[in-house]
Amino acid sequence: MSEIILHAHDLSKTYVHEGIQNHVIKHLNLEIIKGDFTVIMGPSGSGKSTLLYCLSAMEEISGGSVYFHEQDITEANENQLSDLRLKHFGFVFQQIHLVSSLTLLENILISGLSSRNRRDESVYERGEELLRRFQTFEAKDRLPSQVSGGEAQRAAIARALINGPELLFADEPTGSLNQRNSQIVLDLFTELNVDGQSIVMVTHDRKAALRANRIVYLIDGRIVGDLGLTPYQDDDLSNREVQLNTWLESMSW
Ligand SMILES: Nc1ncnc2c1ncn2[C@@H]1O[C@H](COP(=O)(O)OP(=O)(O)OP(=O)(O)O)[C@@H](O)[C@H]1O
Ligand SMILES: [Mg+2]
Repeated sequence: MSEIILHAHDLSKTYVHEGIQNHVIKHLNLEIIKGDFTVIMGPSGSGKSTLLYCLSAMEEISGGSVYFHEQDITEANENQLSDLRLKHFGFVFQQIHLVSSLTLLENILISGLSSRNRRDESVYERGEELLRRFQTFEAKDRLPSQVSGGEAQRAAIARALINGPELLFADEPTGSLNQRNSQIVLDLFTELNVDGQSIVMVTHDRKAALRANRIVYLIDGRIVGDLGLTPYQDDDLSNREVQLNTWLESMSW
């Protein structure tokens, strides 16, 4: 039986700007399954990033609930929320957000070292191990300004994984990368998912969406489509592309 990690129930998010309400997410229901690589697609402004921030406890929601396992995270206090963000969730952004005055390895370690349960040594080892695995070990002592965009994004992914999060969120992680670096980052996501990492990723990129085994389509704050695919590595790629393209066309992509 599939296990639900995260469950949004009747989720709404409204921004109020100069007295005008903008209902961005509208009574949305979504279950995220353990081990899935879930992708969220949809037109610009449809609420994809907002949804990701609401699911990952980075934004306060306006209505409904979000459950992480049995825990209603909308009822959580600040300590519980920081615990969730630090230990259970990892987040990768389009704009890489590394601290410019710290090396790649230091950027990764600061996330790990602030987790109270870990001995410093194990964080250090894990940070190095992640960089080695992501083929950025040679660049570990360089500043973000001294590495390529692809290396910086791989370090940001390593940082998101340093505490072994149950769920990895990514908002357009390949959005600022060239084709080659996008491919490297996507291969990494596939590899992590094969190893059991649950991923929820927003993307505009069909090539990125192809990696998912589930694609949810958002229009105007509502889910209007939900496509299931077989795992990427098991599939005939050309057939998968046809399946995705046909579905995206039916969504008026
Ligand atoms: N902090 C905010 N305050 C007010 N309105 C916001 C805020 N953040 C987003 N919005 C609005 O919410 C709507 C959805 O934005 P969101 O960033 O979630 O869209 P998106 O689907 O991620 O778009 P894109 O594909 O361009 O990244 C937009 O109309 C946007 O202007
Ligand atoms: Mg967005």
